[in-house]
Amino acid sequence: MVSASRRISLLILTLVCFSGTWSGCRREETPKQPSVHLNVVMKKYAVEPAEIRVKQGDLVMLHVTTPDVQHGFEVTELGINEPVNPGKAAVISFKAEKKGEFPVVCSIICGAGHDDMTGKIIVE
Ligand code: CUA
Repeated sequence: MVSASRRISLLILTLVCFSGTWSGCRREETPKQPSVHLNVVMKKYAVEPAEIRVKQGDLVMLHVTTPDVQHGFEVTELGINEPVNPGKAAVISFKAEKKGEFPVVCSIICGAGHDDMTGKIIVE
């Protein structure tokens, strides 16, 4: 049976470890990942910017908005397909793992120019 004082010291040790104030815990530092925030607008009938450039390894966060009707932000090769509704930004994050050009399309029928809503994400 663990004595009360030992239990308390274990508790304190745990707390100190969690707060990261004691180097003896050898807490792994999480490497700071470069994170890129970009605003994208989907509207009748365009994706702006049509070219989204990021660097390989970037943690990318897209804030996608629409001023008119519902659209869908789809990048098949990156496994992204998110509805974008008026009045609320769709926040889409992904890690730019490999270099290349990845086509962006609109995945929700939004009118006559739906098929014209294209763009690309370029990972360099
Ligand atoms: Cu925008 Cu379909």
